[in-house]
Amino acid sequence: MSTFRKRTRFSGRIAELNSMDSAFRDVSGGRQHCILLAAEAGGGKSRLVEEFTKRLSGRALILKGGC
Ligand SMILES: Nc1ncnc2c1ncn2[C@@H]1O[C@H](COP(=O)(O)OP(=O)(O)O)[C@@H](O)[C@H]1O
Ligand SMILES: [Mg+2]
Repeated sequence: MSTFRKRTRFSGRIAELNSMDSAFRDVSGGRQHCILLAAEAGGGKSRLVEEFTKRLSGRALILKGGC
């Protein structure tokens, strides 16, 4: 099923993306990381993950799950 959602232009989250980039560099070097994202509903968790995984395009295998 496809749904239409109007996307807002992504803004901010520089610190979070830098932190995730840094974790990805570490992981690429063989270290292990677990990133825990927590915020209220609508706080931007899914969008942040989406923007981050876009940045990894071609550099990582992205597996997504849901429940
Ligand atoms: N940094 C951001 N810049 C622009 N829009 C954002 C940003 N973070 C979230 N949004 C928008 O706000 C809405 C709610 O974000 P969402 O990621 O779905 O929240 P959550 O997953 O935490 O419930 C979505 O429409 C999303 O695109
Ligand atoms: Mg979400």
